[in-house]
Amino acid sequence: MHTKLLARSDIETILLRVGLDALMDQLIDRLRDGFSKADLAQAQIPARSGLHYTSPDFGLIEWMPANLKQGKASLKIVGYHPTNPAKRGLPTILSTLSFYDTRSGHLMGLLDGTLTTALRTGAMSALATELLGSQRDGLILGLIGCGAQSVTQCHALSRLLPIARIVAHDRNPKAAESLRQRTSFISIPVEPVDHGELTHLLEASDLICTCTSEEPGRGPLFRDFANRPGLHINAVGCDFPGKFELPVELLRRSYVCPDFREQALIEGECQQLRPEEIGEDIATLLRNPAMAHAQRDQLTVFDSTGHAFADYISAMLFLDYATEMQLGAELEVECIPTDPLNPYSILSPAVPSPADANRIQRTAT
Ligand SMILES: NC(=O)c1ccc[n+]([C@@H]2O[C@H](COP(=O)([O-])OP(=O)(O)OC[C@H]3O[C@@H](n4cnc5c(N)ncnc54)[C@H](O)[C@@H]3O)[C@@H](O)[C@H]2O)c1
Repeated sequence: MHTKLLARSDIETILLRVGLDALMDQLIDRLRDGFSKADLAQAQIPARSGLHYTSPDFGLIEWMPANLKQGKASLKIVGYHPTNPAKRGLPTILSTLSFYDTRSGHLMGLLDGTLTTALRTGAMSALATELLGSQRDGLILGLIGCGAQSVTQCHALSRLLPIARIVAHDRNPKAAESLRQRTSFISIPVEPVDHGELTHLLEASDLICTCTSEEPGRGPLFRDFANRPGLHINAVGCDFPGKFELPVELLRRSYVCPDFREQALIEGECQQLRPEEIGEDIATLLRNPAMAHAQRDQLTVFDSTGHAFADYISAMLFLDYATEMQLGAELEVECIPTDPLNPYSILSPAVPSPADANRIQRTAT
């Protein structure tokens, strides 16, 4: 039995042939359609769990499974190591995603989860902003945290909203400075600002995305402030117990929409709220856009912790393109024996028994 393996070069081919804008647009459409139609109450999507450690550096490796009961389940393994960019020249988030046949357990596919995560995280923020944010022309997007996720936040939001200007802050000034070059393809002016201008960023913005790697126990990123009417915030970076980006006072006077309520209560901004202070989740609002639009005039927050169903949809987009473009390798990864009751029957007929395999091994050494 074969497993479809997508290599980095296959993903690159898909990006080049489809184009970044078209790919983002299709992902946004698939997520909107998927979340508004799927019966997530019937799906098996447990809150994320994993290994958390402080040595050799603070980091975690977590697993995010999703069984939509459509014959296959996905499992994303995601690592978060905020020292990666400076120490190893690697992204903070490194991830892979696999698909399994839920009839047999067979590994059907394996592909990257790093780009697919960044794409779906941006796309989910764009959908939440479309539902809850202001739609007027000339929007100012305030960005706090200018790392990898910030690129796809800017890209995805620019596909759905008339953003005129981005005001960007990062505690690392080089990250804020380089955002202009990394997002040059969306042709929206980027103004980097330092910490002294953070209040200006907050008070001038119509939309804000927070996507920092602030350490647990160190948040929030700023104090409550006098926001513009109808401000919408995508809180993207808060995805760990004890990690917060937003002040609780601001959350309490906002309409807060979690991506995944159960998970957000454990590791999102919703940790800071009582259950009755939390609004409908994103799937409910996508099914009932009028319910979301009724909130547009007030302060709204999308508490994004990362949804395994979004990973499923993002990965499927690439697997579908791989099939259409005949990309990817078909490998026999699993040792499927000819006799299901005998694991050693993967040995070829030329090696009649495990005893022969032992003799061959002794001769070879
Ligand atoms: N919600 C989701 O679905 C989702 C998906 C992916 C990543 N994330 C989270 O988003 C965050 C950003 O991820 P990334 O891949 O962009 O990481 P990254 O390391 O590439 O970028 C994070 C940036 O935040 C900056 N930063 C840290 N603390 C700050 C502070 N107090 N003020 C201003 N800037 C600060 C860092 O200097 C860095 O440039 C992480 O916390 C990650 O766990 C969430």
